[in-house]
Amino acid sequence: MNGSTTSVLYPGSFDPLHLGHLDIVEQGLELFGQVVVVALHNPSKPSGVFTIDERMSMMRASLAHLPGVRVERFHGLAVDASAEFGTDFILKGLRNAGDFEIEQQMAHTNHSVSGVRTVYVPCRPDQVFISSRFIREIAQYGGDVSHLVPAPVAHELARIFPSAPRSSGRTS
Ligand code: PNS
Repeated sequence: MNGSTTSVLYPGSFDPLHLGHLDIVEQGLELFGQVVVVALHNPSKPSGVFTIDERMSMMRASLAHLPGVRVERFHGLAVDASAEFGTDFILKGLRNAGDFEIEQQMAHTNHSVSGVRTVYVPCRPDQVFISSRFIREIAQYGGDVSHLVPAPVAHELARIFPSAPRSSGRTS
């Protein structure tokens, strides 16, 4: 970097934050210098397992070691969050072509309504399969997802969903 700092908004549901998200935050820091990680509501997803307060506390604990990162919440549009927090760009991570399709549409829409540009970065190849949805599903049944999430998230998942003995899945 040449010493100048650009700040980017990294919006998401973060329900919960996982190692793929952490990698995108680290890439954002390396490329731009400042990342504002913002928990937003995704209207196309169910309300989720974790309250906004639980998500925020897991995000804060997991990102506290990274100077240049700010963790916030916002009720509203990503472009309005970008204006509120004074960021220059929106940052998104891409795992696969499915992500690209939805992110491309959001990027064009966000630019058309506000002029804010979106920058994509590729996820690490060893993390392309990680998703918050499957982490929630596995954790709810007592499965171990500690290799997929930062330690504070693993700790919180274990507290909320204590490991249940595995069964065959039969109910009778
Ligand atoms: O982690 P997610 O669920 O993939 O994140 C999606 C999110 C929250 C970034 C997206 O749904 C979003 O930007 N929501 C805020 C509402 C908004 O700006 N809608 C217009 C999108 S063009």
